[in-house]
Amino acid sequence: MPEAATPLAPSPLCRLADIADGQAKGITWGSGSAREEILVARRDDRAFAYHNRCPHVGTTLDWTPDQFMSADGRHLQCATHGALFRVEDGLCIHGPCAGRSLTPVRVHVEDGAVHLDG
Ligand code: FES
Repeated sequence: MPEAATPLAPSPLCRLADIADGQAKGITWGSGSAREEILVARRDDRAFAYHNRCPHVGTTLDWTPDQFMSADGRHLQCATHGALFRVEDGLCIHGPCAGRSLTPVRVHVEDGAVHLDG
């Protein structure tokens, strides 16, 4: 009887080094109806991930690929109406959706790669 195949380790979303410190990167994950647009922000050796969907009217946040940060680099910013979100918890602290939050995606960093939590 053949041995059962070893399950493949889940693919990382990206390498942490793919994201400049203080910046964020957009990632398309999955395909078909399971396709998701995700953004991953980096702060030192930590990664914070959210669905790339503004809680105001649901547009993606980036005005051009991988441009997610406010001019001062402190917050994620929605390109549509300028809402500002804290990187660490996704809370909107300024703009038309103030008090609402980006939808978090649970991730962890392991061996220099950003993985979805199992
Ligand atoms: S769609 Fe993001 S602030 Fe309006």
